[in-house]
Amino acid sequence: MEERKGRRIIMFPVPFPGHFNPMIQLAGIFHHRGFSVSILHTSHNFPDPSRHPHFTFRAISHKKEGEGEDPPSRSETSGLDLVSFIRVLKQKYAEPFRETLAAEVGGGETVCCLVSDAIWGRSTEDAAKEVGLRRVVLRTGGAASFRAFAAFPLLRDKGYFSILDSRLDDPVIELPPLKVKDLPVIETNDPDELYRIITDMVEGVKSSSGVIWNTFEDLERDQLIDMSSNFHVPFFPIGPFHKHNNDLPPKTKKKDNETINWLDKQEPKSVVYASFGSLADVEEKEFLEIAWGLRNSKQSFLWVVRPGLVRGTEWLDSLPCGFMENVGDKGKIVKWANQLDVLAHPAVGVFWTHCGWNSTVESICEGVPMICTPCFTDQLVNARYIADVWRVGKVLERSMMNKGEIEKVVKSAMIVEGDGMRDRCLAFKEMADKSLGKNGSSSNYLDKLVRHALTLCP
Ligand code: UDX
Repeated sequence: MEERKGRRIIMFPVPFPGHFNPMIQLAGIFHHRGFSVSILHTSHNFPDPSRHPHFTFRAISHKKEGEGEDPPSRSETSGLDLVSFIRVLKQKYAEPFRETLAAEVGGGETVCCLVSDAIWGRSTEDAAKEVGLRRVVLRTGGAASFRAFAAFPLLRDKGYFSILDSRLDDPVIELPPLKVKDLPVIETNDPDELYRIITDMVEGVKSSSGVIWNTFEDLERDQLIDMSSNFHVPFFPIGPFHKHNNDLPPKTKKKDNETINWLDKQEPKSVVYASFGSLADVEEKEFLEIAWGLRNSKQSFLWVVRPGLVRGTEWLDSLPCGFMENVGDKGKIVKWANQLDVLAHPAVGVFWTHCGWNSTVESICEGVPMICTPCFTDQLVNARYIADVWRVGKVLERSMMNKGEIEKVVKSAMIVEGDGMRDRCLAFKEMADKSLGKNGSSSNYLDKLVRHALTLCP
């Protein structure tokens, strides 16, 4: 493509759907603005290039001659918690990434910059420097949660991470409106490693040539302003990514007609859509509480039960015999749904979510209020903001997730019309739409980002 000559960008996503998908969306945004995009990816996710014919994909192999399997093998990763898994990923791919990047850049065509996921940290900065490239970071999470990550050294010095369970409701004075229980941590055997991953991410952002955020100013203005005074790199809040009009041909992926047909038969705003993202898992006991809570609420529900969601089981194994027959047409359980289509459907009244950042933004962009059951890291911060700052959702804490409480919260969110949550959420939806319009904040930031990327071209 002649007109894209000299406007090439190399991207390096982290292989989790909640990170990979926004990177692909960003690739579409850059492509629409005249760049060609190469995506370097790990062996943990093999994207289907036929779904993205505009991008070039390069798999990075970490196999050295004489070494075993290509990706960190199951035996290396199974049983590892998320923190250890990220550590393995970062270690395994640092060197092969460096080599692949050097080969890509040495290929002749001018590359403007590298866009890498913030989670990869400083090693991608070093690799980029070696080949004379500047690096821009994509932060797939929100600004509010990043502010909390950036405060990790302070929080550690002040002893917040070792506060006793009895004080979980105490405020974090340095980070209002967060409480101790909202700090973005995760259960892990290796808390020091979590600390290292987070601080490496934050330092990697500080040394970058800019940060791209999947958020918009009207949603997180204060958090962005607050941080930009400490991070002396340009910020580009150009979200919501998935709402940009990229003029790319419709994806070849089949529409999920079965789910949409079922939603078509439901009354407007009558369905609770429940889904906990791509990584979180639950105990069998929790799974059963969710099932009974949804059923007892007597609301229609669409529930995504990912294989692997329920620890130690294949899929719905622990559901009591005849449960779904008893629920009848009032409920539907699926393994995966096209969430964007579901949230945009008029039948959906409330989204019961784990508050992953993509889910949060997607819900806000459709004006769908949320029931928030955060599980770990940024989700805990997102939930606090959803409930107390943007006031577009209610929290149903994981520790309170019993069938009685679920029934109560679901009913109140659906029946009492959630005390204005929907109206506030619709107002944010309008702001999101406006941010992408002519002279909207995200459109303006995108113009700045394009100019910035062009100045980075060597
Ligand atoms: C992870 C972390 O958990 C999250 O905290 C962080 O902000 C991003 O990385 P994940 O748990 O997968 O993400 O949640 P989320 O960020 O909400 O992303 C899930 C994505 O998968 C969303 O884009 C959603 O639309 C999609 N999805 C999910 C589906 O398309 N169908 C489903 O059935 C479930």
